[in-house]
Amino acid sequence: MRVLVTGGTGYIGSTAVDILITKGYEISILDDCTTGHADTAPAGVSFIQGSLLSAGDVAQALVGVDAVMHFAGKSLVGESVEKPDLYHQVNVDGSRNLLDQMHASGVTKLVFSSSAATYGEPEQVPILETAPTKPTNPYGATKLAIDQMITAEAESRGIAAASLRYFNVAGALKSSRGWLAERHNPETHLIPNVLRSTSDNPVKVFGTDWPTPDGTCIRDYVHVVDLIDAHIKALESLAPKIHEIYNLGSGDGYSVREVIAAASKSAGYQIPTLDSPRRAGDPAVLIADINKAKNKLGWVPTHGIEKMVADTLASIS
Ligand code: UFG
Repeated sequence: MRVLVTGGTGYIGSTAVDILITKGYEISILDDCTTGHADTAPAGVSFIQGSLLSAGDVAQALVGVDAVMHFAGKSLVGESVEKPDLYHQVNVDGSRNLLDQMHASGVTKLVFSSSAATYGEPEQVPILETAPTKPTNPYGATKLAIDQMITAEAESRGIAAASLRYFNVAGALKSSRGWLAERHNPETHLIPNVLRSTSDNPVKVFGTDWPTPDGTCIRDYVHVVDLIDAHIKALESLAPKIHEIYNLGSGDGYSVREVIAAASKSAGYQIPTLDSPRRAGDPAVLIADINKAKNKLGWVPTHGIEKMVADTLASIS
């Protein structure tokens, strides 16, 4: 089976490419490399450096393809608040173009990178897939709009689709081409920032007065290798005319201070930190209910927070 991986040179997409190849899939990549890195693309794969917004680029990328894993898109919550139009254009218009070109090319299988940001501030944790979707930022709103487009596409054109709603993805994978890891600039995510913390430039703890046991925000971290395992299981379980939505997390929450403690243990020294004001838009607690993915896909995440921290540390050492 040939899989088109959009965003296949980014952190999560490049990890998917590596694991899919190991499992015997043929790969095509479409990526404009605005945030990805062309050097992650393995030799011998079909790699089109092009735009999701270009009908020609997408049509070319779909040649000979049986299924699409759609990772490409803008993914920073803060940036989305500053540039909502850009997020709408790249994420929503780009996905619309992809769906139209899939239809034109007769490609009927899709696995999409959605986000826990579609839920917004949860009324209940752990969060079920049936929870209300009230995104609190443009990024989450674009992911929800795409999920809704895919539902309509399954109903009207009969595609087989799954949206995977990621919670906090972390960790890294060592490939034959070196570590595939987060290489964002600027980096906004907690674990890489914690591991790059120095006494001159300590990692900021955004808020110490949240209504949680230690006063810091709680998140649900999932290792990128477990995440891709779920993508492959979702791909293999797709059914025509059905759009399934699955949460992907670990089902457990860790506070910012607990992540820093795990990182300090892994690094072998106390990570310097700076208590700071709350970051705008952060919910206090986000934890996934992952029973649907467990029960319907037979998926079980196996890498804990220690492994996520250790792999990230190894990738930047
Ligand atoms: N945090 C810090 N200091 C930092 C960075 C983060 O204290 O330097 C805190 C944040 O305030 C938050 C937690 O660490 O409480 C995790 O923050 P991240 O930026 O790593 O991740 P987010 O939870 O903000 O967002 C992630 C993805 C989004 C996705 C969301 C859904 O980046 O794309 O999870 O749960 F929408």
